[in-house]
Amino acid sequence: MDCPGFDHPFVVIGHRGAAGHEPENTLRSFRRAVAMGVQAIELDVYLLENELVVIHDDSLERTTNGTGALASHTLAGVRRLDAGAGERIPLLSEVLSSIDEGIGINVELKGEGTGERLPAYLAAYPRGHGRILVSSFRHRELAAYREAGGECALGLLFGRSKESLFERADALEPYAIHLSVRLASAALMARIHARGLRVFVYTVNELDVLARLRKGKVDGVFSDYPDRILQAIA
Ligand code: G3P
Ligand code: MG
Repeated sequence: MDCPGFDHPFVVIGHRGAAGHEPENTLRSFRRAVAMGVQAIELDVYLLENELVVIHDDSLERTTNGTGALASHTLAGVRRLDAGAGERIPLLSEVLSSIDEGIGINVELKGEGTGERLPAYLAAYPRGHGRILVSSFRHRELAAYREAGGECALGLLFGRSKESLFERADALEPYAIHLSVRLASAALMARIHARGLRVFVYTVNELDVLARLRKGKVDGVFSDYPDRILQAIA
């Protein structure tokens, strides 16, 4: 499957925007990454009152001035919180409408029910489908996304273990495999490439790690400091 938003020869993906410079997963962070020149951004979503909210954790303490489980709050309450530098927790719709159409958007499904909700949610953005890559560690959410009629390209995420990687790839037919740095050996990347899939690796903030991955023919990296990566590959 094609995914024009991520088909650049080497894709620099702003991780949670430019999380090394700005409060992560905020519009300010996504805009900063775009201003740096990334080809794509990554963000994390949970379902709350049928809305998709952009936040990494299932609790509020680390990234906002709120406390407790995200799911124990109302949407209105969560939207009043400060997510850093006066920024609000964005809705996915706000990111889609405020980030330039030429920028790829990797929507990482964190919370339960996100896969089932996403196809109808994205129906309001038909022209945007080619820019979106839907990924998750929760491969059942990706299957639910497909079952609900979702047509965007998929990214299969693996963190600690690569167990069942090729079986899952056969079942879900993703566009890309997203690997943690520790799993991303040159040998594994070569096996994934042999299947015709791309490999994107997270989270790459150091240039020696970037150099190792580039030798292994990585297709793109997620970085909290996309400016460093862009400068190194220029
Ligand atoms: O999508 C790549 C990366 O964001 C996955 O890990 O925990 O940073 O969401 P995490
Ligand atoms: Mg993520």
